Amino acid sequence: METKTMNIKIEKAKTSKIDKVDFDNLAFGNVFTDHMLVCDYKNGSWNIPEIIPYQPISLDPSAKIFHYGQSIFEGMKAYKDENNDIWLFRPLDNCKRLNISAKRMAIPEIPEDYFMEGLTALLKLEKDWIPQTPGSSLYIRPFIFASGTGFHASPADEYKFIIAFAPSGAYFSGKVKVLIEEKYSRSANGGVGYAKAGGNYAGQFYPTQLALEKGYNQVIWTDDNTHEFIEEAGAMNIFVRINDTLVTAPTSDRILDGITRKSILKIAKDEGIAVEERKITVSEIVEAAKNGSLKEMFGAGTAAVISPISAFGFRDVDYDLPEIGDNYASLLKKRITDIQYNRAEDKFGWRV
Ligand code: COI
Repeated sequence: METKTMNIKIEKAKTSKIDKVDFDNLAFGNVFTDHMLVCDYKNGSWNIPEIIPYQPISLDPSAKIFHYGQSIFEGMKAYKDENNDIWLFRPLDNCKRLNISAKRMAIPEIPEDYFMEGLTALLKLEKDWIPQTPGSSLYIRPFIFASGTGFHASPADEYKFIIAFAPSGAYFSGKVKVLIEEKYSRSANGGVGYAKAGGNYAGQFYPTQLALEKGYNQVIWTDDNTHEFIEEAGAMNIFVRINDTLVTAPTSDRILDGITRKSILKIAKDEGIAVEERKITVSEIVEAAKNGSLKEMFGAGTAAVISPISAFGFRDVDYDLPEIGDNYASLLKKRITDIQYNRAEDKFGWRV
């Protein structure tokens, strides 16, 4: 991987939009900060990143992103603590995962120092945009797409790496009702399910729309082969608590290796909770819901944090999850957010 001495050029915005933002009522991902980081890949290498005012991008109509969907992204957050210090959570893991996605999508890998130093420079410039209202944070969206041109179905020769920031509130408002999907699939063995590729999300929109029409918020994907095993929910990994054991599907070609997912596994073990990474059948969950051993289900992801699931639907039947006082979702959410917001000791060395 290439390394170059970094001197990130900064072109400042003439005016700031920050005064127009209602930081007490932030939705998710629809307000953007004053600047963005842009880095171009041309002639076989990545140029030094630059920071410019947040603005639209001009692209040739034949840019390969439009035709062949060469596009990957990451989701991260920056948190501000009581002393106004700014923290990232496992940022190098996001960079490494972006490059895992890049490899799978035949996109050139971004050098780690470009990612980390670019991100740090942009964060320093935009530090006033990091919300301190409870439950809010600065959502960070690093992404790479094919800007190179041509209708030939082959990888582009030019790419753009961009980091944009969106001060954001919760991804889901309230509890989440999910539908276990048996017809459509999100991913397949040998496919791109483990990559954060834009098309993985586009492919979910139609089945998710059908689920929304039926009153659900998200789809739980099952394996494409048998539809017997639950996998993930697209915008988050899925955990189930059967009696006192916390279970999640093992990562594979088809499942995103979630950073929140693996952090929760570690924290849960640290809490003395019995944890299993194993295949979970739909019939096991249905049976557990019927006999009362299914205590909790929740989604976990950067955007979703830990989102409790109130009910799941399967074959036209809804199964409600019980409301339990001593629930793992609240305990684990508190532990992980206390680390993220610098309210607790960072015993695993995740905070940067
Ligand atoms: C994230 O959790 O950051 C994601 O990338 C999921 C996205 C659908 C919001």
